[in-house]
Amino acid sequence: MPQKQIRIAQISDLHIKAPGTLAYGRVDTANALERCVATLNTFEPAPDFVVISGDLVDTPSAEEYEHLKRLLAPLKIRFAGIPGNHDGRELMRAAFPATAYAHSSGALNQKIAVGELDLLLLDSSVPGKPHGELEGPTLQWLETTLASSKERPALLFLHHPPFVAGIWHMDHQNLRNAAELEAIVRSHPRVKIVATGHVHRAALAMFAGVPCTICPAPNHAVDLDLAKLRKPSFKVEPPAFHLHTFFAGEGLGRLVTHQVPIGEFDGPHPFFGADGKLL
Ligand SMILES: [Fe+2]
Repeated sequence: MPQKQIRIAQISDLHIKAPGTLAYGRVDTANALERCVATLNTFEPAPDFVVISGDLVDTPSAEEYEHLKRLLAPLKIRFAGIPGNHDGRELMRAAFPATAYAHSSGALNQKIAVGELDLLLLDSSVPGKPHGELEGPTLQWLETTLASSKERPALLFLHHPPFVAGIWHMDHQNLRNAAELEAIVRSHPRVKIVATGHVHRAALAMFAGVPCTICPAPNHAVDLDLAKLRKPSFKVEPPAFHLHTFFAGEGLGRLVTHQVPIGEFDGPHPFFGADGKLL
């Protein structure tokens, strides 16, 4: 019997602007999201859910959220977003009024059950600031929510990475109270991953005993300047998203994260001919 799978796609840092406006005068983030949605819609087998891990818009404004909603309208998969440092909590609440957030004001945390998985979306945004921090009520909600089960695997999503990635100007604006998050994650073995965004490029570290990922973006990447050679810069590198695939099985199962390039590529081509021999 094939193993049961649950596929959670993560896209991040969309930075949608008002129609016709380029990010930094150069990047067409709307077109980048259109290509991302097309790849998600044609991926087989279809992901079960899409998490957007922050920076849905850029400035932010109601017009940008309206533009975002128009661009996401063709997406055939259920989705939910969490705020990043470029989002506005109240603007996001207004843009997605049907969302069942855990609190009626403040941080936009939410729990979403997808089959036997719990997705816990944590709002690490600090209004008006680029860095991240989990507020007291968010940490309490996370602790209580994780304590509500021992059997259901949980995937944590937040915008700001809780680790230093080595890119100096981004490391100033990571999650400031990572130690508090770490203590909670360590006390709940059902957490399978801590998945973040913010840096616009893929990275992996261990955090609190579990894998902790940074998701690449569909548009531009933060320059991989590990030696502080340049001012804060970006590069338009190959766009991608993450696909977290859960395989049910012994214990709390296994989670595997694939990086999926956005766009159309040559192939797939068979390795073997009709005679079973390598081509
Ligand atoms: Fe960000």
